[in-house]
This record gives sequence, structure tokens and C-alpha cells, in this order.
Amino acid sequence: MKKIKIIDGPNLNLLGKREPEIYGSETLKDIQALVKSHIINRKYEFEASFFQSNSEGEIVDCIQNSNQSSNGIIINAAGFSHTSVAVLDALLAIQIPKIEVHLSNLFKREDFRHHSFISKGVNGVICGFGSNSYLLAVDGINKLI
Ligand code: DQA
Repeated sequence: MKKIKIIDGPNLNLLGKREPEIYGSETLKDIQALVKSHIINRKYEFEASFFQSNSEGEIVDCIQNSNQSSNGIIINAAGFSHTSVAVLDALLAIQIPKIEVHLSNLFKREDFRHHSFISKGVNGVICGFGSNSYLLAVDGINKLI
């Protein structure tokens, strides 16, 4: 069975409580359950595992390890999207398909969110659909792996 890794960055552990007017009321666990159901409902032939960290180094380690353990990555690097050359370099270093997701529409928000360092290291970017961004990314990764 193929495997995909869904990586969530800093402060996404607070989803549900954190700025719900921007990020919605679902928790990260809720989103992970939605992703699992979506994979089953669509009869995709891969399984998802999940990783969340507030630490840049742990996210870099997870991306590096995914190269051996996974067939594709979906990543919401959250605030690190706008700051991290290290996360970009980790993504560039591995060959499996990668999709960047964001819950919010970055382009309707502050200027500093309009640029993502990591976009250069992924196959495609989905943003602005709330938790559905993750499900659209699952559909996208299905075509790539
Ligand atoms: C986010 C958008 C980022 O700008 C922000 O720092 C986040 C969440 C999103 O999913 O909309 O933490 O990645």
C-alpha cells in the first residue's frame, strides 16, 4: 500500500481555538479524520499518516524521512512558509510529489503572507478552501503518485 505524509507546522495544533474566524472551528484531529474518510470514500489506494510540529528542525527531519517512508507529501508549513529556507531546501532535496496547502487565502491577507518560500519546492499549491484545501490536495496527490 502506498503512503502519503501530511505535515502540519507551527500553531496548527491550536486549530479550532486559534482565530476561528480565519481558520474555522475544526481541530487538526477533525481535519485528519476528514482526510482519512475522504481517502476511503474515493477508494484511493494509499493511506495517510500525520505529523505536526512547532519546531522547524523536526519538520525538516520529517520531510527528509518521508523520502524513504512515503510516496507523497502534503504540507501546511504555516508560519514557516513565509520564513524558512531550510524547509524549502528539505523539499528540494527529495524527489517524491509534494503539495503545499493553506486553510486561508494567503492573497487576501497581510502582504508578508503573499510570499511562500516553500512554493518553489512543491508540485502545486492549494489555499483558501478551509479544511477542504487538504481534501483537494489529497485529490491532487492521487494524480501524482
Ligand atoms: C496558514 C497561513 C499562514 O500564513 C499562517 O502562518 C498559518 C496558517 C493557513 O493554513 O492558512 O499558520 O498556513
